[in-house]
Amino acid sequence: MTSGDSFLRDFATLSAFGATERGGVHREAASEADEAQRRWFEQLLAGRGFTVRYDRIGNQFGLRETVPGAPYVLVGSHLDSQPRGGRYDGAYGVLAAAHAVHRVAGTGGTALNLAVVNWFNEEGSRFTPSMFGSAVFTGALDLDTARDTTDPAGVRVGDRLAAMGQTGTEAPVLADVAAYAEIHIEQGRVLEETGTTIGLVADTWAARKYDLRVLGDQSHTGSTPMADRQDALLGAAHLVVAARALADELSTPDAPLHTSVSRMAVEPNSPVTVAREAVLNLDLRSPDEDLLARADATLHERIPAIERTARVGIEVAGAQRWGVRPFPEAGVELARRAADELGLSHRRISTVAGHDSVHLNAHVPTVMLFVPSVDGISHNEAELTRDDDALAGVELLTAVVRRLAAG
Ligand code: GLV
Ligand code: MN
Ligand code: MN
Ligand code: MN
Repeated sequence: MTSGDSFLRDFATLSAFGATERGGVHREAASEADEAQRRWFEQLLAGRGFTVRYDRIGNQFGLRETVPGAPYVLVGSHLDSQPRGGRYDGAYGVLAAAHAVHRVAGTGGTALNLAVVNWFNEEGSRFTPSMFGSAVFTGALDLDTARDTTDPAGVRVGDRLAAMGQTGTEAPVLADVAAYAEIHIEQGRVLEETGTTIGLVADTWAARKYDLRVLGDQSHTGSTPMADRQDALLGAAHLVVAARALADELSTPDAPLHTSVSRMAVEPNSPVTVAREAVLNLDLRSPDEDLLARADATLHERIPAIERTARVGIEVAGAQRWGVRPFPEAGVELARRAADELGLSHRRISTVAGHDSVHLNAHVPTVMLFVPSVDGISHNEAELTRDDDALAGVELLTAVVRRLAAG
């Protein structure tokens, strides 16, 4: 059996955890499906000579130590998924990391130690914010705050991790990491449209995300005169439209602006009762930080008019943001040379989606690679990366890890 066969076989096994009828996976962080796949991944790592460790926020590490006391080349991504998400987002990169590190460790001769990581809760769909485990690891999110975070049902991260038995205190910390590498599906169409196999990620778009809480008053949908209503859902609807209008008004071909509201919780969410409260998320992204700031300010300028129209109050909560950040040129160049040697076509690319690498990149030399997504589809059960592209990515990641581990 070739190493390609063994990767595809492992990937098929992994894809069965939380599998949906339409070919995707549903395994939000710390769900039963996530717990089960993490246990499977622990066994896979242990069976192949890795020492498995957890940190206090449930990041899962597989260590290959050949150079006592040396720092690690850390390689990984995330196994958790969006609700009814795709098989590849994150999971591809974690499994690719395990295969790449295993191959490099097997040939030996490295100056640095090697480690694989499955970051806890990258998606942030159940426990916000996204990129949760890597945020704690890099100090961007306080550990106690993270462990006290609850899901909409009130389940606490720390309690759930304890019940899973998947936390610990013996794992590597940021100071032990010499370099980080991550491979991920593109989640866009640039590689496919240009017939390119590998994206060398040169920078990330900026993002601003926060929740908007719309406060109205609960009343009867039939008997309350229209003029008396304080309808939180009406206020929320205006915000959804205002967010979309920002993108339509401010985007330019050189500086696009992406805006989304993708989640709303309505109270009491009942027929015959005007909504008392609605909480929605706002997600703004652009490769232009000034444009992003302008969009954010413009939205805030429009909030008082929405408050008056719907007779509601609107509060902002729970902000998360990152700027346009280049990935180190030395890493792009290292990966480009490795791709050339393997005869793989490549191009520089920006990441629009956030990744755990965004946090790591703020602290350690970081290399981020993309493989093509069919039709650019992601966060969807139809997400697909062709086997030959997936395997090319594993080959390249192996070569990149080998070069990084040479010290
Ligand atoms: C995380 O996945 C993001 O793109 O925000
Ligand atoms: Mn991802
Ligand atoms: Mn994702
Ligand atoms: Mn992501």
